[in-house]
Amino acid sequence: MLSKEDNDLLTRTGPGTPMGGLLRRYWIPALLTEEIPEPDSPPVQVRLLGEELVAFRDTHGRIGLLEEHCSHRGTSLFYGRNEERGLRCIYHGWKYDVDGNVLDTPAEPAGSEFCKKIRHTAYPTREVAGIVFAYMGPQEKMPLFPNYEWVQLPKNQTYVTKSLQECNYLQGLEGECDSSHLSFLHKSFRSKIASHAYFSNDGAPSFDIEETDFGLRLAAIRKWGQDEQYVRLSTFVMPVAGCVPAGPRVGDRLDGFEVHYYVPATDTQSWRYDLGFARSRPVTNEDIHRQGQIGPGYRRIRNRENHYLQDRQAQKTESFTGINDFLVHDSVATESMGAIYDRSKEHLGASDTAVIALRRYLLDAVRDVQDGKEPPHIIRDSNQNVLDHIGSGAAVVPKGGHWRQVFETAGTADLRKRGSSSG
Ligand code: FES
Ligand SMILES: [Fe+2]
Repeated sequence: MLSKEDNDLLTRTGPGTPMGGLLRRYWIPALLTEEIPEPDSPPVQVRLLGEELVAFRDTHGRIGLLEEHCSHRGTSLFYGRNEERGLRCIYHGWKYDVDGNVLDTPAEPAGSEFCKKIRHTAYPTREVAGIVFAYMGPQEKMPLFPNYEWVQLPKNQTYVTKSLQECNYLQGLEGECDSSHLSFLHKSFRSKIASHAYFSNDGAPSFDIEETDFGLRLAAIRKWGQDEQYVRLSTFVMPVAGCVPAGPRVGDRLDGFEVHYYVPATDTQSWRYDLGFARSRPVTNEDIHRQGQIGPGYRRIRNRENHYLQDRQAQKTESFTGINDFLVHDSVATESMGAIYDRSKEHLGASDTAVIALRRYLLDAVRDVQDGKEPPHIIRDSNQNVLDHIGSGAAVVPKGGHWRQVFETAGTADLRKRGSSSG
């Protein structure tokens, strides 16, 4: 359980909040490339960390992520005209470039220097693997973009989906670290996927958790037969990502993993981004099967309003939930807690070991920032920006043998060499 104070500390992310201050020190997903597909395409509204923003791609393909409300008198720039190198407000025609410079104030007298005095809020962006990342923190503290394994891959070997979560980001992120729910929430009575047999076999995994430079490495260990155990290795990566053994396969082996981000839109809604990659082949439509569950506005077709289209008959015969979709399972579990769950009411057990570790890590990081220290996983040295040790995989290993004997330092290189089995 968390005190009400710590619950507030972790869940409030708007401007001026301590957690908001922490999240603003990192590059975080802001929108998808597909939302602003080409130069001068229509601008889109972006809700991020409680801020109202607008994103657009200018004539030269550069991306602007601006405060939505015009610096003149506040009209929304979402309705603006995206024209020749800038976004123009429809009320009195003020025009902004991607850096927030006011290029033109046509309602002012000719020769007016007024616009030179104004700087509109604009955040730097980086476009990687179909995601537009933003940095919303102090300019002088801006870190390098972390050079993850998937950053290096050609675009056709990565995929990404985005969906709206009707709850605070932390509920989703906790679910990412919580391996024990796999044995229940995602259980299918008819599945032929090998890993489902492992989950079903042991619903009470033990955890082996270590703190790392990037976050946490989480091993969930399940009994399997007399002499073996099934180990799922996942990672929490600062500030809001979980890497899990899922995604594209080659034969029966995983060919990469998935990175799931939970980014606060407001404190009561969050964006889930599922980024997956294949190391050795282009991704296929089959890899991006989640796309079919997401409707207009990135809302899931099965959602709270329609009770996720739960099928009570299927709940008797097909699956634990009666809901036929992995992505939706997680949403039901985390959204139904309420918009911001009051963790002073919960009762944590041994199955929550990883969730407790996640909260502790985040609280320590918030306090680092409050104390004027640099939080973990801020990359500044380009010579150190080689992040091939954030791995994820799953394997059956001999009982008694430590999981490291298979995953060693859990670097992806090792996982690749030794193979990450069924997933
Ligand atoms: S409110 Fe935007 S130009 Fe006047
Ligand atoms: Fe899940």
